Amino acid sequence: MESFIYRNHNLYCEDVSLAALAAEYGTPCYVYSKAFLRSRSQAYLQAFSGHKHLVCYSVKASSNVQLLKLFGELGLGCDIVSGGELFRAKLAGIPGRKIVYSGVGKTADEISQALAYKILFFNVESESELYLINRVAAEMDLIAPVSIRVNPDVDPLTHPYISTGLKENKFGIPIECAEKIYLEGSEKLKNIKFMGVDCHIGSQLTNLSPFRDSALRLRGLIERLAMGGLHLKYVDLGGGLGIKYDCEDVPEVKQLSDIFTDVFEGLDLTIVLEPGRSMVGNSAVMLTRVQFLKHTSGKNFAIVDAGMNDMLRPSLYGAFQKIDKVDINFENSAQFSDVNYDIVGPICESGDFLAKARSLPKLEQGDLLAVRGAGAYGFSMSSTYNSRPRPVELLVDGSSVTVIRERETYEDLVKGENLGR
Ligand code: LLP
Repeated sequence: MESFIYRNHNLYCEDVSLAALAAEYGTPCYVYSKAFLRSRSQAYLQAFSGHKHLVCYSVKASSNVQLLKLFGELGLGCDIVSGGELFRAKLAGIPGRKIVYSGVGKTADEISQALAYKILFFNVESESELYLINRVAAEMDLIAPVSIRVNPDVDPLTHPYISTGLKENKFGIPIECAEKIYLEGSEKLKNIKFMGVDCHIGSQLTNLSPFRDSALRLRGLIERLAMGGLHLKYVDLGGGLGIKYDCEDVPEVKQLSDIFTDVFEGLDLTIVLEPGRSMVGNSAVMLTRVQFLKHTSGKNFAIVDAGMNDMLRPSLYGAFQKIDKVDINFENSAQFSDVNYDIVGPICESGDFLAKARSLPKLEQGDLLAVRGAGAYGFSMSSTYNSRPRPVELLVDGSSVTVIRERETYEDLVKGENLGR
């Protein structure tokens, strides 16, 4: 489904004009479509409806409590990676039994908070972490539910910074070592209960074969463990499904569910998923306004009011985010002479850009632009670098608009700082 469409030459989110939102709430500004978020949740729930499943939205992709609440109401759980994300999930009313906890560096405090909240399981990424969880659980007189995140050594065929399933990556326990750890752990670690096995091989995967390869390796491990007397109940297949940023071909959730249900056919397992980007990526745009135009020899710069602090992906990964002019005046043919622009922000770094050599209709000072595909790893990776307050976040539902996070103020910037008065 598409929630951002042109009506009478103006880009809308559902029934709300983006130009009107920018006028009322200012720029930069993140705008999410509730209908889109609902439809992605339903796509996952329907695709896996023929199998025992739990869809745990990966909070890091976009962590606003109102989005988590919406997903919770629709029946989803959460995949968290920190005490802060646990705090958000609790605020959103996500029950512990629908939370899985991943990440390579969990602290004793974070582990005890998650144990107290009775999460479904920890995805354990090293032997030392397993021992720490066992110790913390013993101190609390609890049994900790655990899955081991295995590293299946499968190439996800994606950007190296977002690949996690190769043996040179820091994530998970090499699959060939996992069997011994499970079987010895079941014997020795009295405060651990092994619930399942987990893997997440990378993000923005547009090819399905790495998903099948890693699922097959997990099935082999599950069967070997069963022969050793350890019967797991869950297989957590992580997130990673890619989305359309430009004109890439992306698989449907149903194609992914067909692969997984086929690979695990005949085993009594609940399939857990941790989708992030494919839930929220195309649910939002970031609005930004052209401040100045600057022409130097051979370059056209459009200096906009959003920087790498507001949207980091292009600077950090060289990621492509589609950019559209919010109002297109078809009567003015001059608008259609495409020009190549570098769309750059106000931050004092040459790496501060949203797009390079991007062909756009002729721009003018004050024009409003929509950066598409901004819902995943957009606001959640924003910062206040250069002491820039972070943008407002808006949620559109039909013709109604809710501020789900206010624009930060200068006072927010110095909150907690010793002002030396
Ligand atoms: N589960 C685990 C353990 C993860 O590490 C991740 C993402 C996910 C699930 C969700 O993956 P997704 O469905 O969103 O692909 N900042 C980067 C992406 C980093 C992904 C980190 N892990 C970007 O902007 O492309």
